[in-house]
Parts: sequence; structure tokens; C-alpha cells
Amino acid sequence: MSQVTLRNVTKIYPGNVLAVKEASLAVENHEFVVVVGPSGCGKTTVLRMIAGLEEATSGEVWIGGRMVNGVPPKDRDIAMVFHIYALYPHMTVYDNMAFGLKLRSYQRKEIDARVKEAAQILGIEHLLARKPKELSGGERQRVAVGRTIVRKPLVFLFDEPLSNLDAKLRVQMRTEIHKLHLRLKSTMVYVTHDQAEAMTMGDRIVVMKDGLIQQVADPMTIYDHPVNKFVASFIGNPPMNFLRGRMLRQSGKLYFDEGRFKIKVIDEMAAKLAAYTGKPMLFGIRPEDIYDKLFVSESVPENIAPATVEVVEPMGSEVYLYLRAGSHTLIARVGAHDRPEINQDIDLVFDMSQVHFFDPDTEQAIV
Ligand SMILES: Nc1ncnc2c1ncn2[C@@H]1O[C@H](COP(=O)(O)OP(=O)(O)O)[C@@H](O)[C@H]1O
Ligand SMILES: [Mg+2]
Repeated sequence: MSQVTLRNVTKIYPGNVLAVKEASLAVENHEFVVVVGPSGCGKTTVLRMIAGLEEATSGEVWIGGRMVNGVPPKDRDIAMVFHIYALYPHMTVYDNMAFGLKLRSYQRKEIDARVKEAAQILGIEHLLARKPKELSGGERQRVAVGRTIVRKPLVFLFDEPLSNLDAKLRVQMRTEIHKLHLRLKSTMVYVTHDQAEAMTMGDRIVVMKDGLIQQVADPMTIYDHPVNKFVASFIGNPPMNFLRGRMLRQSGKLYFDEGRFKIKVIDEMAAKLAAYTGKPMLFGIRPEDIYDKLFVSESVPENIAPATVEVVEPMGSEVYLYLRAGSHTLIARVGAHDRPEINQDIDLVFDMSQVHFFDPDTEQAIV
């Protein structure tokens, strides 16, 4: 039995704003699901409908085997962490964490045990007597999470909890929430616009755009087999390169023809692309699947695209090359020692076993 289920859930806000359209999703028990997408795509609305802070316009929301449409938030056995820490400034950390349990009339001993257990899990035992203003951003975030842990809810809901932390702390808290999930083994639904958080934290990722769920899968499936151009471009950094061109058949072989250069399609992909022969095609390749020919040992004459180097960005462990190839600009992620000159002409080798083809009209993946 899944812990959270959405069945064809639609949310239309007053003013006819279609925020979420026909969303269906089953979050399994103990699963960590990340909902990711650009601002305004409906992520918060999905979370608020699970929490009961918004009613679905149509469709069903189930939590723990019970349909909860119409059930008020306090009776849904969920806890929500927002990016606004909203700690009570005049209360100590201990009292902030105990507050929700006191409201629910828990025994003092039980409250004490739960607060101390949560503090220990989060490594904030030494902060229990402090007030929020005496804490760093990361510590406050931990207290905010602690307030929800003490309640031992069936489902944790996170809405961009790390978005106002600095970059370094965000990466650190990302690991901590991940560890927290491993430890608590609770069901968690985590909303973010940050694809890196989605990739690193989620058991599964739900990619949304314009109120529509685009794809639900584990991170590597999303990365390796995006169902459409949007998912392919949203997940991954630097993003996938896209080239517009045509499919071309010559001497029985199938090529992607950019116009200024052409690249042979591998046999495994050719069958699915044959129907596009002579037609426009949208070709996708990730920056790490583009190589500088100088650094490739075997010769691969049919996979080469001539390019000009426009910008070289050394990242320490690798180098990003910004290139012009034919009528397109591309980003390649190459080795740390590959430092061509600006305006230098280089030959690029495409790893054709890793590329993607999208229908240029529907933008759906073909292979
Ligand atoms: N209370 C509201 N009333 C009207 N429109 C809203 C309301 N809340 C959100 N929206 C709209 O619904 C869409 C989805 O919003 P939201 O779920 O907050 O997106 P996200 O969290 O992905 O940024 C947006 O177009 C937003 O402007
Ligand atoms: Mg939001």
C-alpha cells in the first residue's frame, strides 16, 4: 500500500488559474520522492493538497490508505517543513520543538523524550537552551526539521526547505536530510526547483512543468532516458546540448545532418529513426558525451564535428568548453588538462551511444 496517492488531481485557483492538471502519483511507504520543476509549475500546490492546506478541485488524495479529501490538515498525520523557518523567537530551541506536542496535549515525559531524541538525531542537543537568534541559518533549519520529527508523522512534506541557505550549507543540509531519511525511514515528499537536489536526494523524481507531471522515475532513468526535451534540458548541469538538423540516408547509412557536418547514427538507434529519413530532427547530447578528438585514442571518423572554441572555463577537476559547431553553440565537459586556446579550431567526437533524438514538433523522445 502506498503512503500518499494522488488520483487525477486537478487544482484550479480562483481566477481560473490551472495550477495542477490531472496529477497521478503513488508515493510508496518509506520512499523519498522529490517533486522538481521551474517556479510556478505547481509544486507547492501539490504539496499543499497533500497537506490539506488546499482542497483539490477534482481528483482524490489518499494518505495511509485513507481518502483525505475534506479532512483538515491536523487530522492528516503529515508534517510540513517550509523554507521560512518560522521559529518562535521568544522560545528556546527546546520549547520550539516541544510546542506542537504541548498543543496536542502530550504528557511532559513523552514530550521530553521525543525532543531529546530528535535533538540527538539532528545533532542539536547542545543548542536546546538557546533562542533562535543565537543560531546560524543551518542550525535554525535543523530546529525547524526537529519540530516535525518530534511529531512522528506518517508523511513528511518539505517545500524548498534549503532555498534560503548559502550554497555550501545547502549541499551540507542536502546530505543531512538524506541521512535523516535513511535513519527515520519515513515517507517524504520534497519539493525543489533545484535539479541537483532532486538528483542527489530522491529515490524517485517527479518532474513537473506548467501543472503537468512530465515524468516519474528514479534519478538515473530520468537522466539517461528523459521522455521529452523539457525533462532532458531541466535535469543535468551544464544542460544537455540541442541541435536542430535533419535525418539523412547515404549509402545505406543513417546520419544526423546538422547542415555543416553530419554524424553517423549507431545501428541500435537507426531502426527507430528510419521513419524520419529526410525529415527535421532535434538531436540532444550531454556535455560529458562530447570529447576533444586530441584526447580520444581510437579513430572515429564518422562521429566528428568541427568546432571553434569560444570560452574555456577551468573548473579544477574538469574544463567546460563553450564551442561553436556549425550553426549551434555547445558546451563540452572535458578533462582538467584539456585547455585549447580561444578561437582555436578543434574536432569534437560525439559518443553516439549516449545521444538522444526528439521529435522536433512534439519534443517527445524517440530514442
Ligand atoms: N492562492 C493562489 N491563487 C491563485 N493562483 C495561485 C495561488 N497559489 C498559486 N497560484 C498559481 O498557481 C501556479 C502554481 O503555483 P505553485 O504551486 O506555487 O508553483 P511552484 O511551487 O511550482 O512555484 C502559479 O501559476 C501560481 O501563480
Ligand atoms: Mg513553490
